[in-house]
Amino acid sequence: MDHDAIRPSQGPGAATKRRRLLSLFSPLTVGELRLHNRIVMAPLTRNRAGPGFVPQDLNAEYYRQRACAGLIISEATQISPEGLGYPDTPGIYSAEQTAGWRRVTDAVHAEGGQMFLQLWHVGRISHPSMQPEGQLPVAPSAMKPAGQAATYEGPQDFVTPRALRTDELARLRDQYRLAAENAQAAGFDGVEIHSANGYLLDQFLRDGSNRRTDAYGGSIENRLRFPLEVVESVLEVWPPGRVGIRLSPSGTMNDMRDSDPHATFGAMVGALARYGLAYVHIMEALEADTRHGGTEIPVGYFRALYRGVVMVNGEYDGPKAQEVVASGDADLVSFGRLFLANPDLPERLRKGAPLNVPDPQSFYGGGARGYTDYPTLVQQVGPR
Ligand code: PHB
Repeated sequence: MDHDAIRPSQGPGAATKRRRLLSLFSPLTVGELRLHNRIVMAPLTRNRAGPGFVPQDLNAEYYRQRACAGLIISEATQISPEGLGYPDTPGIYSAEQTAGWRRVTDAVHAEGGQMFLQLWHVGRISHPSMQPEGQLPVAPSAMKPAGQAATYEGPQDFVTPRALRTDELARLRDQYRLAAENAQAAGFDGVEIHSANGYLLDQFLRDGSNRRTDAYGGSIENRLRFPLEVVESVLEVWPPGRVGIRLSPSGTMNDMRDSDPHATFGAMVGALARYGLAYVHIMEALEADTRHGGTEIPVGYFRALYRGVVMVNGEYDGPKAQEVVASGDADLVSFGRLFLANPDLPERLRKGAPLNVPDPQSFYGGGARGYTDYPTLVQQVGPR
């Protein structure tokens, strides 16, 4: 990582110099990759995979259109059939899925883009109707989350999941490793481990969802154990400079809570520092999180604990993103909704051009409408 470039020396004029150097539009070395800007496409669930949870040509076109991002992170992609929690999300456990993703990465690479796959297991955020043989979803502890699962039959109340036995965790680590291997075969530039938003790994991290009494629950060190073992399984496949991880320390989505998020996530980020990963991707508190009692932890808290690349996410617009990069609190900013609605987002932000407004009606499921038909600036106003 070129820290000299992102952490210029102190001294007279250093602040001005830093502000000038640290532009959202300047390149950055991230692990083994060179990104041509610091604008990342965030993982976005779109529920448009084909039969067998296989990515289609339409999905390839959607990602191809957004190849101008410094890096694309794929939508969350289940590592196994039991990792599924939503209709028509893609997988990365079968040969067909791997071949489908290859078409996506080929399309992105042909445009000069780079793309990571996000490795996902939803844990308890599922429903028997979504699970193989109608089995119960699995989780660190048999604790039912409040709320409803998104099933093929519509929203249905969550059920009490089955607590994973200690001797089953090796099977899960294997699933992560095999999925990481498939991501490599599919031509991705790296992978992001989804350890956020109340899904399986986040369920292990926080004491609001982990009441285990074995080596994987109780103390913070124990709650970190499984997510870190998954990191290590993925590192058997990928070099650290091609692996990122996503965390949501302030998040309350999917009924999440923790009695001391500063301690839990401070320890997690500290533990991650020893692996030399490409980046740590931190979701900041959203308005809904603070409303639901989430502890708002400023990104600067993590920056002080982590010397590597920090990516942030959380309702950023262009000026706010430029500000956080210039401040040095983050190196990369990921954009979800804005990238969804603006395939040429970096160009629009650079020009301060108007942005297309995302249409929530077409976020989840459907076809090309609200997916591949958002216009570029050139399509709207012609070349300038
Ligand atoms: C969702 O499908 O609603 C979803 C998936 C992954 C996330 C967040 C939300 O990280």
